[in-house]
Amino acid sequence: MAHDQLLESLLLALEIPAVWLLEPRNAQLCRVHPTNPVLKIEWEPFYASIREGQFLEPEALRTSCFSNHAHFLPKECGAEVASLGSRYLVFFSPAPLPRGHLRAVKDYFAAMEEHQTLRTSFEEHRLVNDTVLNLHRLFLGKFNIRELLLRVLEYVKDKLGYSNCAILLLDSERKALRILAAINYLDDVVRDIRIPLGKGITGWAVLHDEVVFVPDTHADPRYIPGAHDIRSELAIPLKAGTQVIGVLDVESGVPNFFKKADLRILEPLAAIVAIAVENARLYTELKETHADLADSFFQSVEALAEAVEAKDAFTHGHIQRSAYWGITLARLLNLDERRTENVRLASILHDVGKIGVPEAILLKPGKLTPEERIEIEKHVEIGAQILQRIRRLHEIVPIVMAHQERWDGVTEGPFHGYPRGLQGEDIPLEARIITVVDAFDAMVSDRPYRKRLGYDKAIQRLEEEKGRQFDPRVAGIFVNWLRENRKPRDPDK
Ligand SMILES: [Fe+2]
Repeated sequence: MAHDQLLESLLLALEIPAVWLLEPRNAQLCRVHPTNPVLKIEWEPFYASIREGQFLEPEALRTSCFSNHAHFLPKECGAEVASLGSRYLVFFSPAPLPRGHLRAVKDYFAAMEEHQTLRTSFEEHRLVNDTVLNLHRLFLGKFNIRELLLRVLEYVKDKLGYSNCAILLLDSERKALRILAAINYLDDVVRDIRIPLGKGITGWAVLHDEVVFVPDTHADPRYIPGAHDIRSELAIPLKAGTQVIGVLDVESGVPNFFKKADLRILEPLAAIVAIAVENARLYTELKETHADLADSFFQSVEALAEAVEAKDAFTHGHIQRSAYWGITLARLLNLDERRTENVRLASILHDVGKIGVPEAILLKPGKLTPEERIEIEKHVEIGAQILQRIRRLHEIVPIVMAHQERWDGVTEGPFHGYPRGLQGEDIPLEARIITVVDAFDAMVSDRPYRKRLGYDKAIQRLEEEKGRQFDPRVAGIFVNWLRENRKPRDPDK
């Protein structure tokens, strides 16, 4: 305001009725004094009419390219122009102005321009700093890529005043762009849109690996009109290494909306977004490969366990039940995910060593001789040796090794612990879980040499063996769980 008044006093003192400012870049003429709305004029005929240092007489002015705007022209005035950097000042007066007057006004505008540039650059600098700092904060601690990008776009849109912003990614065949995240960009219905590579502003930016600055979409043949009336657009390619993987696109309903400061914010942002997107893609790929590997690994493990089970028709369903009860107990004991998974694997594989025990002994209907008993007991160490060869199963080797040990450490008698005679908490907790569920399942299953016990009887046996064969805490928790879940899951039924 103060600047306007200053200019007004200056023009009054110099007896200059009016000054307009002409922007040849967009052919806009702005009457800076007295102020009024911006006029659009054609630059070429204008420049043919008035060249610098030449005064256009009042009559000539009214019949020149100004005739369309005659009602805006000051009465009985001619015109002359003076350049002001890339712009022109148009002075209106009845007669040519003294050179000194022109120079005074030009100096005034130059000073104002410098002031404005400094101010803008200071504000832009502050905006860039603030934005980059806040975006950096946004990136910290965010793992869901889509959610992260939406937050980033929302922030950018609010802070910088864009109408729409979107991040589009090139599909795996590198033929079309798809929207990964968008704010106000397109309606949900057309969000599935595919933009062919090379088409539109975004497709062009990706194909040519170039930033596209569009001051006026109506004047750019690459622009494909969409649902919103977009007047200016800025598209910045996203790059992972040397490859373009997508584009960051911002739009505005106002022509000439984007400035150099936007690029100074959006270029580094595009670089960060590209890294985040690429990392997320690699992470997903890695997770899928890992899941595939894990699936095929568990399938092999189960196949192995089933091969053992097939040797002994009487233990059918044993591994599934043991695994179910094992996981249940591990969760009740608050074991973490990894240890729970180890309990599951050990439940399935604890008797895998039986593959090395002769069937005649395994399936013998009568009582075992001491020698046969020794043969059967070897299944623990044979199992450990088999599993030792598989890296992922190293952690369950000590569990398998200890699943036949007793809490009280007794190593004599028909139900002694083996092979090392470990006791109490020297036995891994995972193994103490397997011991309880393995024994319980044995009790409720038919064996070649005896009939199964009923559930109540088997629960009672667990109670009696607390602190003897079984860890009292583990057995106690299992008994409570069995009582609360009267019908334990039986995969056979
Ligand atoms: Fe066993």
